[in-house]
Parts: sequence; structure tokens; C-alpha cells
Amino acid sequence: MSTRHIKQGKYAKIRKFETPDELPDEYASLLKKMLFVQADTEFASVQQHLEWQENAPTPEDKWVLARIVADEVRHGLTMTRLLKQFGEEGEQMVEKLLARKIGEHTLESFNIEFENWESVCAFTCFVDRVGLYQLEAFQECSYAPLAREMPLMLNEEKLHIGFGYNGLKKIITDDNYPGNKETAQAAVDFWVPRALDMFGHKESKNSKLAVELGIKRWENEEMRQRYYQEIVELCNSLGLVAPPMDKDRHIL
Ligand SMILES: [Fe+2]
Ligand SMILES: [Fe+2]
Repeated sequence: MSTRHIKQGKYAKIRKFETPDELPDEYASLLKKMLFVQADTEFASVQQHLEWQENAPTPEDKWVLARIVADEVRHGLTMTRLLKQFGEEGEQMVEKLLARKIGEHTLESFNIEFENWESVCAFTCFVDRVGLYQLEAFQECSYAPLAREMPLMLNEEKLHIGFGYNGLKKIITDDNYPGNKETAQAAVDFWVPRALDMFGHKESKNSKLAVELGIKRWENEEMRQRYYQEIVELCNSLGLVAPPMDKDRHIL
């Protein structure tokens, strides 16, 4: 089957949808919600990163952070372009998105200001990694315009994640760098539960529907389990410990 055909769910084997007009109502309404949340995370993370542009510890860190900010703005722009294809309602959603400030975003992870450099690194290592899982879930999306954006976005997210991981490593091993193993562990303990929450409710009806409609490849809980296995090993490789999966969680 070519990449132009839907791979799974109730529309399997038919040609992917190319325009909003072709979408069944329940499909269009769920897709708009998902694009909105995705765009919201992109613009929110720009707000969170910006103050660290000045406070990043080295010129290299300033440079990579600037790239990350540029990427996240581009991701937000991509999502707003997709939303605007839905006409008037899409335009209104974009306006609402652009007016949001820290504290007003949909997901908790994006309403928290970074209190130190460890937080910046743990956020990019763990929260951006959730973003990567979400984008991978959209890779075969039955809405072709969204699927086509994934390869570039995925590559960019990989850079963000690598930056976060290397940052944590330097915090732990390099005495000239801010923080130490204890403060890195504290940042991990804070951000991992927030990252696990980002996958959404275990029994989410929308997550089931998104898989059925071929928008996403996997349901929330399947992705969360896979993510957790990955980050347990990742924390071990840094000499840190991932908090238990149910610790300090708000969304179950
Ligand atoms: Fe992003
Ligand atoms: Fe990112």
C-alpha cells in the first residue's frame, strides 16, 4: 500500500484525506482539537524557553536554545496553517492560541516556568520526548497534510531531545557547568511525572477514536508505557533514577 492510502482503522485502504471538506464531522472536530493542543504546546514552549536565551550558561547553549525556539515557532506556525484550512472556525482557534500566556495553556507542563538550568535540560530531554512520541503517532496520519509535516518536525525534535540529554550529562559530570547530580535528579523527579501526564487519560475516548479514524497510530496508554521503559534506561545511563510511574501524577 502506498503512503497515499490510509493504513489502519475504519477508513483503512482508502486514499488519505487531503482537504477539510472531505472529512466526516466527528473526524474534523477531533482533528481540530488535536491540532489546537499541538499548536498550543509549541507556542507555550517558546514562552518558557525565551527567558533562558539570556541565561544559558555557554555560547553554545545560547545558540542551540535559539534554534530550538525557532523550531518550536515553526511547528506552531505549521499547526496554525493546518487549522486555518478549516476556515472561519480555524482562524478563531488560531487567534485564541496566539493570545494565550503561561498559565493559560492546555497542558500543565507548558504552564510552568523553568526555575533553573537543570529544568531547561530536563524539560527538553523528557517533555520534548513526549512530543516526539506524539509526532511519531501522527506519521501515518489519515489526514495527508498533517502526515507530510512529520519528517521535518521529527528531525527537529530529535535535536531538542539530544540537547536536553547532553545538558543533563554535563550538569552531572562537569564541575564548571551549573548544577550537580542531586539537582539534576530533582529536575528529573519534577518533570518525568508531568511528561507522563502529557499522554492523557488512560481510558480516553478521544485517543481510541483517533486510532479508529487513523489520525494516530497508538492510544495514550500504549505510548506512555513505551515512553516509560525508554526513560528508565535513559535515567540509568545518566546515573539517575526515574521516579515510579505512578508517583506525583495528576492525569490518570
Ligand atoms: Fe515542537
Ligand atoms: Fe521541541
